[in-house]
Amino acid sequence: VLEIDLSKKGIEISPNLYGIFFEDINYAGDGGLYAELIQNRSFEFPDPMYSWSINVMGKDKAGYVIEKKDPVSTKNPNYLRIVISSLDKGVLLSNQGYQGISLKKGEYYIVTLYARSPDGSIKNINFEVSNRKGNVAFKDFISDIDRKWKKFEKVIMCNQDIDDGRFVILIKEKGTVDLDFISLFPQNTWKERKNGLRFDLVKWLYDLKPSFMRFPGGCLVQGRNMNEAYRWKFTIGDPLERPTIPNFWGYYQSLGLGFYEYFLLCEDLGAEPIPVINCGMSFQGGSYTDMVPLDKLDEYIQDALDLIEFANGSVDTKWGSIRAKLGHPEPFNLKYIEIGNEQWGPEYYVRYEKFYDAIKKKYPYIKVIFGVGPSPSGKIFDDGWNWVKKTGKADLVDEHYYMSPEWFLNNVDRYSTYDRKGPKVYVGEYAAHGVGRRNNLEAALSEAAYLLNIEKYSDIVSMISYAPLFGKEGASQWQPNLIWFNNRSSYATPSYYVLKILNENKGKYVLPFKLLTLKDKADEVISGMIGLGSWQTSVEYKDLRVISNITGEVLYKDNFIDTLKNWTIARGIWTIKNGVFSQSTLSENCFALTGDVNWSNYTIQVKARKISGR
Ligand code: AHR
Repeated sequence: VLEIDLSKKGIEISPNLYGIFFEDINYAGDGGLYAELIQNRSFEFPDPMYSWSINVMGKDKAGYVIEKKDPVSTKNPNYLRIVISSLDKGVLLSNQGYQGISLKKGEYYIVTLYARSPDGSIKNINFEVSNRKGNVAFKDFISDIDRKWKKFEKVIMCNQDIDDGRFVILIKEKGTVDLDFISLFPQNTWKERKNGLRFDLVKWLYDLKPSFMRFPGGCLVQGRNMNEAYRWKFTIGDPLERPTIPNFWGYYQSLGLGFYEYFLLCEDLGAEPIPVINCGMSFQGGSYTDMVPLDKLDEYIQDALDLIEFANGSVDTKWGSIRAKLGHPEPFNLKYIEIGNEQWGPEYYVRYEKFYDAIKKKYPYIKVIFGVGPSPSGKIFDDGWNWVKKTGKADLVDEHYYMSPEWFLNNVDRYSTYDRKGPKVYVGEYAAHGVGRRNNLEAALSEAAYLLNIEKYSDIVSMISYAPLFGKEGASQWQPNLIWFNNRSSYATPSYYVLKILNENKGKYVLPFKLLTLKDKADEVISGMIGLGSWQTSVEYKDLRVISNITGEVLYKDNFIDTLKNWTIARGIWTIKNGVFSQSTLSENCFALTGDVNWSNYTIQVKARKISGR
């Protein structure tokens, strides 16, 4: 029985409790949410022809080379030069996208590319999306190629569903042509934005109604060394000017999905943006750690300050005006920033503190999030919490745990003992990892039990987000994930629906409640007293419990249970003979107390719920 005290409000459930954490892991960004269908569109991967192939048909004499001289963008200097010195059937250049290209019949697609013919020899090229079976989803051409770089754009309707497609360029003229930034996007991105996001994947997020979004990582922010660390300033503006960089998770990212797109997404979702910024340290696992010396940290701290100005500054500020030029004069109302991800130890504290001081000095209203190290045993193994308590320099502490379903069930009260005077907790990453690290019901149910208790401890836990958010079938580095997808479709997991149900049904307060047993709440006193001698009833009762002694003192407490620890409560007709309480015949609807306690020491009153009609 649940006894709810309606006279008090109880703990206020954090209004921002349930959110999401997006990281480009498992091709969640490039090849996933970022709707670009061409992989390595500007030939900037270490192998510039990665995902591309060239096929010289017939008896053509042709070659190709990666050039850097006089590029479209110095940020992306590589481009492809194809030279056909003798023409027969032409040259095919094809891109296999991200594990193939899927297009939908009746939908429109936007092809853009930059081309020039330095000697003016080649004027036209054809292109199509087709698969090995010869199915052609669409085909078109561009003409009027100049001696100077020119941007070409075509919007084309797809006339048949296609999977495992290739984007193919066919050159059927003799001469030289330079190609760069070859891009294919669906027109039907989220909100039909150019350089936009895949509609079905955003829809899952939109339906979840997350109250915040942490981005862009994760280990991705750290990088494997400082050269590969994520710097937000490279991710805004014309995608042509954004460099391609290694992604921590083993592939390359175009940065086409950048901080402006992340802020817009947060706005669309009604989610508070929570950017994570590199703290001047790379990934601390293995042998990777690479750190910015303290006297060189200012540049990174400036990145954080500029980010806040980019998000919130008026259009008269440097970074506010850049935001306005990108199309968003209104501020994004940033309230949080996280410094570093899963970093630990004195090197982190000293760097974090410098960020914290600078941010609080200029933007005292920004809530600064401190990250504690990863937690393989479920216990935070670094002393980050101690540092935060000592200095008081954090508004929230970000904890991560990927544990078994049993761990989640056994730790529902993890936050019962946390110090309420310190900073609040943000569980930035959690997931139950069951057998084979597969998404399953057992994991989701253990998360549900855990999350309900997180609501109960809202006075200390402010926010929580599952991780990772997306996994691409056949291309993931991590599982389980909240939402799975392939090139054509997507589906959510039980863990997603747990979050959705809880978020949609989140209350405002956790009313004070007690879980009562029948000792506290019984329909009637059935027995009178059990005491010396024998006592018997032929009435059958359900849920019979020994409740209190003759004076009304409640005995069904731990100490009394200890006294009676040899007892069991069992179904049956029960009798007491010669002061010894014992069980006799069992029947379906009766309970009995059995034990070898000498009843001469006790006088016991019994309360129970009577079976109706008896
Ligand atoms: O969610 C996957 C990874 O787990 C994150 O990048 C990192 O923060 C954690 O170790």
